[in-house]
Amino acid sequence: MITNQHFGEIPQSYLFSEVAERVRRFETQHPEARVLRLGIGDVTRPLAPAVVEALHRAVDEQAAAASFQGYGPEAGYGFLREAIAAGEYAALGVDVSADEIFIGDGSKSDSANIQELFSETARVAVTDPVYPVYVDSNAMAGRIGSFDGERWTGLTYMPCDDTNEYRPALPAKPVELIYLCSPNNPTGTTLSRDDLTKWVEYARETGAVILFDVAYRAFITGDDVPRSIYEIEGADEVAIEFGSFSKTAGFTGLRCSWTVVPRNLRRDGVSLNAMWLRRQSTKFNGTPYIVQRAAEATYGAAGRAQVQADVEYYLANARLIRETLEAAGVAAVGGEHSPYVWFRCPRGMDSWEFFDALLERAQIVGTPGVGFGPTGAGHFRLSAFNTAEATQEAAGRLASFLATLG
Ligand code: MLT
Repeated sequence: MITNQHFGEIPQSYLFSEVAERVRRFETQHPEARVLRLGIGDVTRPLAPAVVEALHRAVDEQAAAASFQGYGPEAGYGFLREAIAAGEYAALGVDVSADEIFIGDGSKSDSANIQELFSETARVAVTDPVYPVYVDSNAMAGRIGSFDGERWTGLTYMPCDDTNEYRPALPAKPVELIYLCSPNNPTGTTLSRDDLTKWVEYARETGAVILFDVAYRAFITGDDVPRSIYEIEGADEVAIEFGSFSKTAGFTGLRCSWTVVPRNLRRDGVSLNAMWLRRQSTKFNGTPYIVQRAAEATYGAAGRAQVQADVEYYLANARLIRETLEAAGVAAVGGEHSPYVWFRCPRGMDSWEFFDALLERAQIVGTPGVGFGPTGAGHFRLSAFNTAEATQEAAGRLASFLATLG
C-alpha cells in the first residue's frame, strides 16, 4: 500500500460538498425554483469600504519597485500581529503578545493542521455536534480509530443538546486534546466564564491541551460571554486559540485568520509556539500581503464600525429565523451571539428527511444536524448569512412549511 489508508475510513464526501451536490441535483431537476440558501456559513455582504480601500492601496504598493513585497514573514506581518494583539486581546484586558499570534489563511486550515503538533497516540475529545474539520483531520492522521457508520471508535464525544443546555461534560476517560468552539458551530450556543474556567482547570490538572475556536466571536453581544479563552486565568498554559476574519469581515473569499500559541504553552519540555513556527515555516508561505493589509483595516475606526454593522445585519437575520421557528412552536437555540440557529426537526423527522422536505417544499437549503456528529441526528442548522431580503422571504416560506407539518 502506498496510499494513506485512513482516508478509506472517512465518509465519502465532506458535509458541505454533499449538501451542495443535493442542491445542484434539485436545481437541475427544477430550473424554475428560486432556492434560498441558509446552509453553509458563507457571507453575502460585500467587503467593507475601508477594507476595499486598503486592498487598493496594497495593490498599488505591489506595483512599485520601492514598496513591492515578495515572500512575507511566515508568521505574518508585524503590523497585523500587533493590530490583533491590541484589537482582539488588549481590548479585553488580556495579555497576548504579537509573537504569540500567527497569521493564517483561515481557521479551517489552522484548526485542521494543528493536530500535526501532537503524537499519533494523543487521545482526542470533541463536543458533539461539532465542526467536521476537527474530526476529519484527526481521522486522516489515523488518530481516532475507524468509523462504524455513526461514530469513530477512538474518539471521545461530548454530547451537547437541550438535555444538558449545550454544555459539554468533562470527558469520562482521559484525553490529551480537547476541541471547543464558542460561539459554537453548529449550535450557536456559547460557553460561560464558569464553563471555561472548568475546562481550563481540567486541562491544568490533566495536562490536556484545549484547541479553542473563536471564529464567531464578533457575534457576541454584551460582556457576559467570554470572547477569548485567555480571559480565564491560566489558559495561556493550556490553550491554543483560532480566530478568523471570514465571518467577522466577509473574508471567506479573501482568506485571513490568526492562531494564538502562547509562549507559556509547553508539553514534554517543548514550546508549542516554537513547534508551530517550525511547522508553518516549512509548509506555509504566508497569507498574501494585500490580504493582511485588508485585515489590518478592520481595526481602524472606519473599518471597525463598518464590519460591526455587517455583523449586526446578520444578527438581525438570525433573530428573524429563530423567532419564525419559535412562533411555529419549534424550540431553537443560537441566533443571539451567533449567526447559526439550531433546532430539533419537528415531528421526529431525521435530519436528511427534513433537509429534503425543506428543499423540495420550501426551496430552502439548510444543513442536516447529523452531518455534525451523532448527537446532531434529528437536528438542523439554519444560517443567517443570506441577505435581509432573502432571509425575510425564507422566513415566510419556513413559517408556511412548518404549518403544513402541523
Ligand atoms: C459552516 O457553514 O459551518 C462554515 O462555513 C464552515 C467553515 O467555516 O468552514
